[in-house]
Amino acid sequence: MTVVGSDSLAALLADKSVLPDGWRPVFERVAREEFVPDRVWPEDGDVVVDRRRDPKAWRAAVYSDRALVTQWDDGRHAGDGAGRLATSSASAPSTVAEMLFDLDAHPGMRVLEIGTGTGYSAALLAARGCEVVSVEIDPELAEQARANLARAGYGDAVRVLTGDGTLGHPGAGPYDRVQVTAGVRRIPAAWIEQARPGAVIVMPWGTDHTTGDCSLRLVVDADGRSASGPFTMATAFMKLRRQRPDRRHYGAASLPSDWAEAAVASTTSLGWNDVVAGPFDPVGFVLGLHVPDCLAQPAPDGHGGGTLWLHAADTGHGHSTAAAGFAPGHTPNILQSGPRRLWDEVETAWCWWDGQGRPTVHDFGLTATLTTTTDTAAVEQLAWYRDRNHPLAPLVHDVRPASTATVSTGA
Ligand SMILES: C[S@@+](CC[C@H](N)C(=O)[O-])C[C@H]1O[C@@H](n2cnc3c(N)ncnc32)[C@H](O)[C@@H]1O
Repeated sequence: MTVVGSDSLAALLADKSVLPDGWRPVFERVAREEFVPDRVWPEDGDVVVDRRRDPKAWRAAVYSDRALVTQWDDGRHAGDGAGRLATSSASAPSTVAEMLFDLDAHPGMRVLEIGTGTGYSAALLAARGCEVVSVEIDPELAEQARANLARAGYGDAVRVLTGDGTLGHPGAGPYDRVQVTAGVRRIPAAWIEQARPGAVIVMPWGTDHTTGDCSLRLVVDADGRSASGPFTMATAFMKLRRQRPDRRHYGAASLPSDWAEAAVASTTSLGWNDVVAGPFDPVGFVLGLHVPDCLAQPAPDGHGGGTLWLHAADTGHGHSTAAAGFAPGHTPNILQSGPRRLWDEVETAWCWWDGQGRPTVHDFGLTATLTTTTDTAAVEQLAWYRDRNHPLAPLVHDVRPASTATVSTGA
């Protein structure tokens, strides 16, 4: 009989070649079972695995290379079924290992982690000899992580703070490494301000064109005012609480009933499968990089087609909306309204991507630059193709009132 435990998990990750140098003993030492709660939903599955009812299945899930959902709907969901939105998890061990590879943390380094969750990745960093400050927005999860870390022997090496991680924790900086384990749409100023020049910042980053993310590895410039680097892999994380749109509010239901009559009609040579892809597919990611400040919401019809809704917020001249309707055997029907022609922007971006030979996420990167005034601290996000001298259109920025610039999170 195979014994499942941290040794077998470390061996599994070594077989997958995802363990960074020096990390195998760390994965062997830190027992994932100390961090995983009794009730989990493997990989967004809709059935709970409960340790008390089926300890063997629970242990197999813990030592598998699967993400385990540990919270739904910010803790408001009860029961054995899945909730609406997964809001915390123990990330898949290979994803944790791949992020650690990008982070390149060494013993003695000061690490800021955003999104403590179970505390497992913070424990790995502590077991590697790092000094860790980890910020978790959910008070119950933070409390549970503190208990997990103390029980596993990392209570002194990891400081868990309850608060909004977008503010970081200036009190313990400057940091050598910043690891973010929640999906980011707008990089907050605090992470660059609190990192030392040369520091590495790793985060799952994406746009509202898809629900997926890409791991982004930034290195802070010598002047400490900007950070730049490539996307390294497609992934999907729960988003930072204040940066997740409620997708139920988009689509046909959000529009007046006479919207279609007032919209401008056209058609396209593209099809549903060209522009609607899975969260790990590069096309959605690349379209999001090219069409800034736009939320895409596909509504499949279950017959190989559907409507791709595109929405852009009002920036002073009204909202923009587009609906691209596709049905097999029929000419696509495009409707657009508002100051921006969102479908035209998407189609232009798709043709560019196709014309370039359909580059993958690894061909892109991003530069985040701090711009501070007396009233605000903003981060300009500029995605680029191949190198930072080839920027795409500016993306949505994070702007923080200066009054919150020094707010730290309390334990
Ligand atoms: C994927 S889980 C983190 C996994 C974790 N690192 C582990 O090893 O178990 C994402 C976490 O980010 C937290 N989170 C979301 N928004 C946050 C924010 N603004 N500040 C701090 N934590 C946040 C969520 O509550 C959730 O626990």
